[in-house]
Amino acid sequence: MSLLDAHGRSIVNLRVSVTDRCNLRCAYCLPHENVEWIPRAEILSYEEIVRFVRVVAPLGIRKVRLTGGEPLLRKDLPDLVKRIVSVPGIEDVGMTTNGIGLDRMADPLLRAGLRRVNVSLDTLDGGVFRELTRRDSLEAVLRGLDAALSVGFRPVKINAVIRRGINDDAILPLAGWAREKGCVLRFIEYMPIGNDRWNADMVVTNAEILRVLSEGVGPLLPVEESAKAGPAARWRYEDGGGEVGLIGSVTEPFCGRCDRIRVTSDGKLRTCLFSTAERDLRELLREGGTDAEIADLVRKAVDRKEPGHRIGQEDFVRPDRTMSAIGG
Ligand code: 5AD
Ligand code: SF4
Repeated sequence: MSLLDAHGRSIVNLRVSVTDRCNLRCAYCLPHENVEWIPRAEILSYEEIVRFVRVVAPLGIRKVRLTGGEPLLRKDLPDLVKRIVSVPGIEDVGMTTNGIGLDRMADPLLRAGLRRVNVSLDTLDGGVFRELTRRDSLEAVLRGLDAALSVGFRPVKINAVIRRGINDDAILPLAGWAREKGCVLRFIEYMPIGNDRWNADMVVTNAEILRVLSEGVGPLLPVEESAKAGPAARWRYEDGGGEVGLIGSVTEPFCGRCDRIRVTSDGKLRTCLFSTAERDLRELLREGGTDAEIADLVRKAVDRKEPGHRIGQEDFVRPDRTMSAIGG
């Protein structure tokens, strides 16, 4: 079975936000203080998440990624991973994390069947890290990342968002460091979503990053076949020192090959990060909806999946929820 949308895209990827809570306060994601967390009773239980995965796997979903907020803040996460991994049809379970707590959790998560870990990290400078995240946690993040590598996660990917005048001097240090560690570094263009101010001038584009890397680290060559795989344009260093991904969310959107849907931690189904409407999955799950009704909700939503985001267009509407509530 495959889940085809009206634009011919096959939807195989489900992103599940397991909590909107976070132990960092990255300005592009959350307000610095007085965050209004979603009440616990509104957050989907593991039973509800697993039931949903069981319903969508036969429709064509093959991959699940756990996101947040910070997914490691959710108790007993390895149990959830184990249960999702055992759903027939699910081939791959990954997680996007800020890395805090991964020092303890990397091993149990790997053993539960988690395959891929992406760690979000925008600077290697402790002071800048504190400014960006409002917390003094760089060491904890690096410990988590080392633990992921040492228990055997491969690849461990690093997600970095570069903003002009804020952390644009982090490009080369991150690149050199990721090469040494054997991590795949991916740069994500800064998008107008979440909490912070955004303007087009703040976006450090893929083209600029490529130029900085090739001048500062060494020549890069495009990885063959990269056009078809995932959101990142993949580049490899000519000297064999690893790979960099450039995610051109703003200047080279990958919407045309988008294969995702997402569920927020409070059980709303979204077909795009930038969706202006959500469907209430939680209500169906809690008010006696049948599997067929849930499947129907998913098919209808997918059928109307947006062709793409409209960043930069006159009619662009910024989503009214924070990134932590939507799930990155
Ligand atoms: N633009 C681009 N990426 C973002 N992320 C969070 N907010 C933004 C934004 N406005 C990234 C985080 C994380 C991933 C889930 O999304 O850095 O790595
Ligand atoms: Fe937390 Fe990730 Fe948002 Fe940073 S970007 S505040 S780590 S959810």
